[in-house]
Amino acid sequence: MIDLRSDTVTRPSEGMRRAMAAAEVGDDVFGEDPTVEVLQDTVAKLLGKEAALFVPSGMMGNQLGIHVHTRPGDEVIVERKSHIFNYESGAASSLSGVTLHVIEGKGGRFQKDQLLGALRNGHYWESASTLLCLENTLNIAGGLLNPFLELQELADCAHAHGLACHLDGARLWNASVSTRIPVHKYAAPFDTVTVCLSKGLGAPVGSVFAGTEKTIRRAHRRRKELGAGMRQVGILAAAGLYALEHHLADLEQDHAHAQRLADGLATLPSIHVPAPPTNIVLIQLTDIELTTDRLLRRLHERGVLMVEVGPNTLRATVHRDLCTENIDTAIRAFEQALKRP
Ligand SMILES: Cc1ncc(COP(=O)(O)O)c(C=O)c1O
Repeated sequence: MIDLRSDTVTRPSEGMRRAMAAAEVGDDVFGEDPTVEVLQDTVAKLLGKEAALFVPSGMMGNQLGIHVHTRPGDEVIVERKSHIFNYESGAASSLSGVTLHVIEGKGGRFQKDQLLGALRNGHYWESASTLLCLENTLNIAGGLLNPFLELQELADCAHAHGLACHLDGARLWNASVSTRIPVHKYAAPFDTVTVCLSKGLGAPVGSVFAGTEKTIRRAHRRRKELGAGMRQVGILAAAGLYALEHHLADLEQDHAHAQRLADGLATLPSIHVPAPPTNIVLIQLTDIELTTDRLLRRLHERGVLMVEVGPNTLRATVHRDLCTENIDTAIRAFEQALKRP
């Protein structure tokens, strides 16, 4: 199978498995796992933040971000295509008691005047806007690269109105490799940032939540409340450290593969394929007789997996376990799948 459903489907590389097996470990609930400490310090430094916390998933990082910046009854501003709004099981309300105020952007982006329009006025009968969450790259907008200056302007505007800012940087590494803007620069306008090790970087598990020391102390307690105190978890932290040292640069190859896939698919009839900014290719069906269900089934029969991410839209996510030949095979399978039976 050529699995293009997500960049989370990668298997740990040989080198990563060796690093995991050799990891020095201790009980992290007692704060005694040296490998976890190294990972947290490394990522905090990379992101230019005071401290960081290893968490089991990107979602937990985002939910910690929401929790530490809000109180029950508050309102969190997000964009309609954001992961927090679409794919986090409603956790913002069930875990932190907040509501989400959704801004309808264009292709995932929105401007300062829309943010200003979404802010509450401080009346006691309104909920309070206390947090802005942005996502970069933006997954279901096709790995969209939010321009740095736009992110900075939104974060500055939010701060000026007393809101905190959290960045869902699950694929911030992709943004940085693509634009050559260092991750610490992307992270600077935000109070807290989540980055993932288990997406394009290829670690089996793990994300890191970063912010000030005070914020991370709160998040540490909250992680425990959620039952995610982890013990000899240096084995997983070692995978993350290995990924940062050995896999980060490979994201460039993923981006080239995504471009190759998009170029190949763009020559086919009945679909529109926007140029992919990073490792995610969106495929919009323009023939009304085609349905995503039928196309996904036909692709599956031909050994290719993709997912649906919106009406008439499929997503193919490129990752490190794919080679150029796999990309070319996927293009041929797509061509076959588009043919009428
Ligand atoms: C943009 C974004 N944020 C957060 C997450 C959540 O990560 P996890 O699956 O590790 O919870 C994902 C997962 O794909 C994502 O794409």
